[in-house]
Amino acid sequence: MSDKLGIRGYDFVEFYVGSAKMVAYWYARAMGLEIKGYMGPETGSRDRISYYLQKNELKIVVSSAVQPSCHEILSFINKHGDGVKRWSIEVDDVDKIFSHAIANGAVISKRPHKLEDERGTIEQAAIRLYDDTELVYVNRDSYPHIFYPGYEKPIQEIQLACEDTGLMGIDHIVGNVRENEMDKWAEYFTKTMNFETFIDFKKGDIGTKYSALLSKVVRSEKSAIKNPINEPFEGAKKSQIEEYIEQYHGTGVQHIAIRTKDIVKSIRALRRNGMEFLSVPDTYYDALRERKDIRIKENIDDLQELKILCDRESEGYLLQLFTKPIGDRPTFFFEIIQRAGAQGFGKGNFQALFEAIEMDQELRGNLEYN
Ligand code: FE2
Repeated sequence: MSDKLGIRGYDFVEFYVGSAKMVAYWYARAMGLEIKGYMGPETGSRDRISYYLQKNELKIVVSSAVQPSCHEILSFINKHGDGVKRWSIEVDDVDKIFSHAIANGAVISKRPHKLEDERGTIEQAAIRLYDDTELVYVNRDSYPHIFYPGYEKPIQEIQLACEDTGLMGIDHIVGNVRENEMDKWAEYFTKTMNFETFIDFKKGDIGTKYSALLSKVVRSEKSAIKNPINEPFEGAKKSQIEEYIEQYHGTGVQHIAIRTKDIVKSIRALRRNGMEFLSVPDTYYDALRERKDIRIKENIDDLQELKILCDRESEGYLLQLFTKPIGDRPTFFFEIIQRAGAQGFGKGNFQALFEAIEMDQELRGNLEYN
C-alpha cells in the first residue's frame, strides 16, 4: 500500500495542552474517541502526562506538563496556546525517508532513533515544519503494545459510554503560514518527500467581500497524505489566516479534517455531545435545492437541519462541516468530511464558510480594516 518513498498514511497527531486529563475527557466525551493509553508519573514519566486516544484509524495524543522543568510543553503553550505540536506519517523505513528528506533540504528535528521496552521497538525520526511544529516518521511494525513504549492502560477510570460518532481517520491536515511563505512550504513537501502540487487556489479564487487567502494543496505520491497550506492575501479587512497567525503567535496547523462514512449520523452525534460548529444560513440550502447538478444520496432537509455543506465536482461530491475553534484561542479547529468521489476540498463552499468565520471574527473584535 505504500508509495516509492515508503509512505503508508497518517499515524498520530499530538497536541500540547494545558491539562491533558481534561482535554482527554473532552475528546472522549465530545468526539467519541476511546482513551487507550496513559503515560505519567505512575508509569515513570515525572514531568509530563500524556493520554492516547483512538477511534478506528484516528489516533490522537494530548500531553501536558506537570512540573516547571517540562520547558518543551510549557514554552509551547505559553506562546501558542493549546495546539498541534506534531503530526506523523507511518512509513516502511524511517532511515530511508529521513535520509531522502534531509538530502533534499528538510530541517532536522530528531535523527532516526529507536524507542524500546520489553515488548518491542518503535523507530522514528522527525523534521521541522512551520515555526514550531514537527513532522514525525514512524514505523511501529515491531511494537505490538499500546501506542509507544512508556504507555500503559489508563489507570484512571474515565472510560465513558458515549454515542458512536463514526469518525474513521484523518483525511487532510492544513497549515497556516505568513504572506509569501506558502510557496516555500509547498516546495518543502514537494522537494523533501516527492509530494506533488495538487491544487493551487490563486488570487480571486478564495475570498469574501472583505478578505482573501491563497492556498496550495500538496499530496504524497499515492495521495495518502494531503496537506493544504494557506497564506493571507491582501483584502479590505483582516483575514482569518492573519487572525490565526496573530493569535497563535506564529505559523502552524490550522485544521485537521476527519473522515466519516455517514456525516449525517456523525454530525448529529457530535452536536448532541456539545460540539460547536460554524453556522450556515438557510439561504445556502435554498440555493442547494435549486442546483440541478447536485444529485446526492443524502436528504437535503437533513443537511439543512444539521448545517452540513455540500459540494460537487466532476468525479463526485463531498459533504463537510467545520467546528468552531476547539480551544480558548481562535486557532485550531476540526473539519468533518464525507467523500463520495470528490477529491477536492469544497471550493464551492469557501464563500459561505469564510463568511461564517468572519461573523465570529467580528464578535472577537478581530475583523478590523487593514
Ligand atoms: Fe479542510
